[in-house]
Amino acid sequence: VQRYAVIGHPVAHSLSPRIHAAFARQTGIGLEYAAIDAAPEDFDAALAAFAAEGGVGANITLPHKLRAAQICTYLSEAAQRAGAVNTLTRAATGWQGDNTDGVGLVRDLTERHGLDLRARRTLLIGAGGAARGVAPALLDAGIGGLYIVNRTPERADALADMLALPGRVHPRYLKDVGTLGNFDLVINATSASRGDPLQSLPTLPINLIAPRGAAVDLSYGEAAIPFLAWARSARAHDCIDGLGMLVEQAAESFQRWHKVRPETDAVYAKLRDREP
Ligand code: ATR
Repeated sequence: VQRYAVIGHPVAHSLSPRIHAAFARQTGIGLEYAAIDAAPEDFDAALAAFAAEGGVGANITLPHKLRAAQICTYLSEAAQRAGAVNTLTRAATGWQGDNTDGVGLVRDLTERHGLDLRARRTLLIGAGGAARGVAPALLDAGIGGLYIVNRTPERADALADMLALPGRVHPRYLKDVGTLGNFDLVINATSASRGDPLQSLPTLPINLIAPRGAAVDLSYGEAAIPFLAWARSARAHDCIDGLGMLVEQAAESFQRWHKVRPETDAVYAKLRDREP
């Protein structure tokens, strides 16, 4: 059997092994998919050990997406633009890096949730690995102006520079978020609610979301609760967590590895059902 894994820290609660196992059953492909916990300083060694044991593909999750981009011998255009990798494929020359988070998010928003992203004035909160992963695909999907705010302003500037579309991408100070007008799409790409102990979200004005606007948290489960509670109080028309994106990015990775596109709706429905 071919060996695959997700590498993260923490990783015990990752749904990726379950998702890939379901795709494998559905498509009749024999594979093994493990979860590997590696602290940041152990990432390179963990990946080398996985390769030595015959690993041919890996999903990379927090906090390793930026490091993974640095160790690849080849990066797809999506990974280059994001500066972050969530999918590694073993080649004779080393690891090839790709990023399926952005296409996964766009697919979830447009196809599962039926959102038309074109011309949506968009606020991206956060400028870490998750934000970098999704920003290029959102721009490709035709959103309007992309405003980026981040606790550490330099990282918002760096992400905007990297996207290299000065007419469409505008880094702003998080403290000025109340002066930017309202948005048709507000995306929480911070890890604020994922921490342990739970850290609090940045304070956001209640009039931040335009009528019929959508709010999206890239996290799912408990980590998405605070932002989506705020979004409901801000009367967002759509309040969407990252579970669909998770399933879609997995399907994109699966397709790159196995050259078959799995069907995602049943897997998504099953994971949604099991939620607390
Ligand atoms: P990820 O891969 O999840 O994006 P990351 O690269 O560590 O992880 O980035 C975390 C993001 O969440 C960053 O934008 C971070 O802001 P800084 O760049 O200032 O660190 C943001 N973040 C984390 N905790 C936060 C908090 N309590 N309030 C606001 N932003 C927070």
